[in-house]
Amino acid sequence: MCSIIGYKGQLNAAPLLVDSLKQMEYRGYDSVGIAIINDGKVIVRKSVGNVSNVTEKFNLGIMPGHTGIGHTRWATHGRVTEENAHPHYGCTNSIAIVHNGVIENHRELRNELIGLGHRFKSDTDSEVIAHLLESYYAKKDIKKTTIETCRRLKGAYAFVAAFEDGRICGSRCDQPLIIGSLDGGYFISSDVLGFLKHTDKAIFLHNRDIAIIESNALQLFDFEGNAVNRETTQVAWEGSSLDKGKYAFHTLKEIHEQPAVVEKAGIKKSGKIKEFCDILGDTRTVYITASGTSYHCALIAKYLLSNLAKIHCETIVSSEFPYTLESIDNSSVLLAISQSGETADVLEAARVAKQIGSKILSIVNIPTSSLARMSDSFLEIECGPEVGVAATKSFTAQLSLIYAIVDRLCNYVLGFQANKIFLAEASREVLDQETKIQAIAGKLRQARDIYLLGRSIHYPIALEGALKIKELSYIHAEGIVAGELKHGPLALIDKNTYVIIINPDDRTHCDNIISAREIKTRGATIIGISNKPNEAYDIFLKLPFIGESILYPIIEVLPLQILAYYLALIKNIDPDYPRNLAKSVTVK
Ligand code: M6R
Repeated sequence: MCSIIGYKGQLNAAPLLVDSLKQMEYRGYDSVGIAIINDGKVIVRKSVGNVSNVTEKFNLGIMPGHTGIGHTRWATHGRVTEENAHPHYGCTNSIAIVHNGVIENHRELRNELIGLGHRFKSDTDSEVIAHLLESYYAKKDIKKTTIETCRRLKGAYAFVAAFEDGRICGSRCDQPLIIGSLDGGYFISSDVLGFLKHTDKAIFLHNRDIAIIESNALQLFDFEGNAVNRETTQVAWEGSSLDKGKYAFHTLKEIHEQPAVVEKAGIKKSGKIKEFCDILGDTRTVYITASGTSYHCALIAKYLLSNLAKIHCETIVSSEFPYTLESIDNSSVLLAISQSGETADVLEAARVAKQIGSKILSIVNIPTSSLARMSDSFLEIECGPEVGVAATKSFTAQLSLIYAIVDRLCNYVLGFQANKIFLAEASREVLDQETKIQAIAGKLRQARDIYLLGRSIHYPIALEGALKIKELSYIHAEGIVAGELKHGPLALIDKNTYVIIINPDDRTHCDNIISAREIKTRGATIIGISNKPNEAYDIFLKLPFIGESILYPIIEVLPLQILAYYLALIKNIDPDYPRNLAKSVTVK
């Protein structure tokens, strides 16, 4: 959720840290801060706002010093205030820390430290780390200090601390922390994107590792103080770059990257797909777990795997996984889907299933992520970095990869491989209707409630469309199985309601038209998304005809993403950074 970064080397730290924070801003963006060590002093600057605003406010980029740490925050403990922004420091201002995760026992620690005379300045759980380090630092032994501190902390965390003498330490426990190694210095970061501009040499710290960077040398220990060796991995980001190109927002750029994402799906690393499909095909029961948008992809994956590949599947929202374990055993496979590969709920589900002895398969965008690293086999969706907090191209990429996998498992009767180019073309045709969709957004701007209806494989798209509208425009939206309408939700429909019906010309079409008429009778405005017009629709958004109707989810989600995007713009909301949300939810 939060991003943390540290640098020690020959270059000026401040501009590097600011740039790194910009690259990782998607992880959290309610407040920003850096601490620079200069002349034996820890200089902290922090404030509420985004990286650009805070950098400008304090001229962060020109602070002198070759060692520093930085942070962007997504509030968990304590409101969004300057005091609660990181870095935090103890009473003597000799050590500053940045932290990601949750310290579960922070209350006990805080009370204990207050009893010892420490004074706290923030409401955060993080500040206890600074005070603990300070209290163990009496003999200036940074290794002992860090070990003692880590032993006291409970929870999932990663932190980096900068000491007044220019040394840096970092430690992780169930939150990622990665060293970037370059000539004459090191980065230490929660995300490879924090240093990828400068080096592709990454050292992924293991759980309960401690890193100390001192005089341009890196030392690694475990919590028992034993030296450990971790290999250096070469990391690479293929695909699109991190800038917005010709687009006003990342989200719009990412929406427009989708045709290319569909075209690319499943073409690389066929050996890996074979290994993955072999595990999947050999399984009695597959449990599919994910959160948010990735969960909507899981619902479609279940439909395809059970109906076409004839594999018995269950889907479980990751946060519910710990409560739903009755039947999972060591003969089951857990398929975890996650763009980031760092979602805490998903990682927890995978950990629990691994303990039970199940095999873990995963579908991720980030091959170096914690989820990929704990999986028996993983596949990459290869859509390049997704910066917009709302998942768009990663959803299409996950979906396309699932189609490619199922196609392979059922001897290509699904027709995804054969129709991929055609599908990409159809996606472009949908995106070409952007102006029309923008006009529809204009009509919906005053909507209080928007309902999205779909049946069968289109129902998860109704859920996904509703999630996009909620996240981006803050309008209440709800995905409903069309057949359930008369079992309750119809009571909500009146002349002020807007209903979007996802209705390609397949087995679900006629029943949806019946639902549409029932809604029309109650005075609501109906927006039909289909390849076939009908007089029941007040507004019609035409999808291209793509033959294989089971492939429609890939193109029918696109108008919903564009609609949500323009609703955000109309309401003056930044679509890249919706309020209260973070790109990867690394806390439970
Ligand atoms: O990185 P993940 O795919 O595991 O993320 C899961 C959800 O947090 C994510 O899809 C979230 O719901 C997005 N904001 C949806 O747009």
